[in-house]
Amino acid sequence: MADALGTQWRRAGHEVLAGSRSAGGLREAAEFGTDAVLLAVPYAAVVGVVTGLEPVLRGRVLIDCTNPVGPGFGLLTAGGPAAAERIASAAPAAHVVKAFNLCHVDVWRMTPPVFDGRPLAVPLCGDDEAALSVVRRLVRDLGCEPLNAGGLDRAGLLEATAALLIGLWVGEGADAQAIAPPLPFAAGTA
Ligand SMILES: NC(=O)c1ccc[n+]([C@@H]2O[C@H](COP(=O)([O-])OP(=O)(O)OC[C@H]3O[C@@H](n4cnc5c(N)ncnc54)[C@H](OP(=O)(O)O)[C@@H]3O)[C@@H](O)[C@H]2O)c1
Repeated sequence: MADALGTQWRRAGHEVLAGSRSAGGLREAAEFGTDAVLLAVPYAAVVGVVTGLEPVLRGRVLIDCTNPVGPGFGLLTAGGPAAAERIASAAPAAHVVKAFNLCHVDVWRMTPPVFDGRPLAVPLCGDDEAALSVVRRLVRDLGCEPLNAGGLDRAGLLEATAALLIGLWVGEGADAQAIAPPLPFAAGTA
């Protein structure tokens, strides 16, 4: 995810530094991200990674694309706070925005991700308007359209949506896009 999104943002003119435990270092990447930091590690590692970087992440926009989805397409957070909320608790002075978790990494490599003539919509959950504004710009830089999906207290819904979609796509081989009617029908006004 870091490579896919980072490559797109580099193409759009941003300076990007990717880091991992084995390449470049996580701290160096987090320190570099004065405008925004993308957290793209397995769910099991998020709290440990964010706790370790907490001093660096203060005041930063922290984009959380993680999916706490486990065996049987279940939520690993079930019964507790969402991954995004755990991240916010581990770095209380960071401005966490949940985004980019609903699509496979190959979709984020598309230039641009447009399907049937419609740019992909990317729902965002977050509490800080300035941080949301930064992430909206990053969404548009991909050729996508940002959607307001509410505060961070709704991030668990995005994570549950990912679990549902992945279960339909991978588990059932179903075209999950077909589950939602066009807006007028959804609103019952057609
Ligand atoms: N792949 C997708 O299609 C997709 C789509 C949407 C969301 N996501 C979510 O995005 C996140 C990243 O997925 P990905 O596909 O990009 O995974 P990935 O290609 O396996 O990359 C994971 C990164 O995390 C690092 N990492 C692994 N274990 C770690 C640990 N214990 N502590 C610190 N760093 C660790 C790895 O680098 P080092 O081992 O070198 O440190 C690597 O840079 C996941 O939460 C996933 O659910 C993935």
